Amino acid sequence: MKLCDKLQNIQPSPTLAVNAKAAELRAQGADIISFGVGEPDFDTPAHVRQAGIDAINQGFTRYTPVDGIPELKKAIADKFKRDNGLDYALDEIIVNCGGKHSGYLVMQALLNPGDEVIVPAPYWVSYPPMVILAGGTPVIVPTREEDEFKLNPADLKAAINSKTRALILNSPSNPTGSVYTAEELKPLAEMCAEAGVLIVSDEIYECMVFDGLKFTATASLSEKVFQHTVTLNGVSKTYAMTGWRIGYMAGPKDLIKACNKIQSQSTSNPCSISQKAAVAALSGPQDEVGRMCAEFVKRRDYIMERLLAIPQVTCPRPRGAFYAMPNFSAYFGKKVGGKVINGSVDLSGFLLEEGHIATVAGAAFGEDTCIRLSFATSMEKITEGLNRLEAALKKLS
Ligand SMILES: Cc1ncc(COP(=O)(O)O)c(C=O)c1O
Repeated sequence: MKLCDKLQNIQPSPTLAVNAKAAELRAQGADIISFGVGEPDFDTPAHVRQAGIDAINQGFTRYTPVDGIPELKKAIADKFKRDNGLDYALDEIIVNCGGKHSGYLVMQALLNPGDEVIVPAPYWVSYPPMVILAGGTPVIVPTREEDEFKLNPADLKAAINSKTRALILNSPSNPTGSVYTAEELKPLAEMCAEAGVLIVSDEIYECMVFDGLKFTATASLSEKVFQHTVTLNGVSKTYAMTGWRIGYMAGPKDLIKACNKIQSQSTSNPCSISQKAAVAALSGPQDEVGRMCAEFVKRRDYIMERLLAIPQVTCPRPRGAFYAMPNFSAYFGKKVGGKVINGSVDLSGFLLEEGHIATVAGAAFGEDTCIRLSFATSMEKITEGLNRLEAALKKLS
């Protein structure tokens, strides 16, 4: 069948593909340890699950307003006020079908053919395809490992031109775990605001920040930055609710209205039951979030100790989220059974086949020197997985 041209320029999500491949090998009986998953390995908190059950039992199973129930939008506004000191009116907020959907809608609402969106690399795998699907052009700006993969203002300045419509920022970052301080964010955000470039600030890992670092919401930096920022967030990661599909965003009223229009003609409202559960998540007790974070810190510490003990591997210390992005380029060019490891895709494939560990090749995130390891898996599996990683690397010569 003849399909549209823009599909030629995008691939299915590589992270979801790794999960699918690991599941397929498991189904064939292989014992695979997965460092590939981008979802917390914890259960959705009990009170949140109960809110979903109550919603079903109370018959809350019909269409809702397209942009979300007022109760949830109010809980989101309260969250922005409580956690980020931000004041959003309800018509500056929309609830979407997951954080991924929020980003997709912003690009659909914003871009005309030829418009450019700056995407610092390493990037979350879905950003460039979202831009392409909206007819825009992603402009990839590489960052440096020695800068903890954070964008520097000079590189941003060089990338902005008259076609630039947006910059996508993601702190804490998937895939690097980097967290921007307020001082680092400010010059970037101010430069965008000055140039009339929208800052798309993906803050979905907001609650997973370690080492006493303070999370900074981009929109909180100044009134001018606030006016030029759309904040994306959601309940998937913070409350271990990946399957419930609730994301949300807050930003300029006209942009939110445009996203609402597109949502009304595509998905309609996000799942009614999930919306009720999200109210409970955002407004209820937050202690499980802290417990989850404490566990991620333990795992991060362990994984870093083990990774840095592997000869020639370097890795910026993840300060948030649940990913590490170690540099394995010293192993490129080595061979196993006559086959040369030519980059991160080969290495990740080799680790899956030989080591029975699933990882995601850095190439998927625009950084071929690295592979991404998610530590959203138990300590026991991390330990065994790292044993396998070390053993597999020793087979390369
Ligand atoms: C950086 C980032 N943003 C957004 C999302 C979207 O999350 P969801 O669509 O599951 O809410 C993810 C999920 O992996 C992510 O890593």
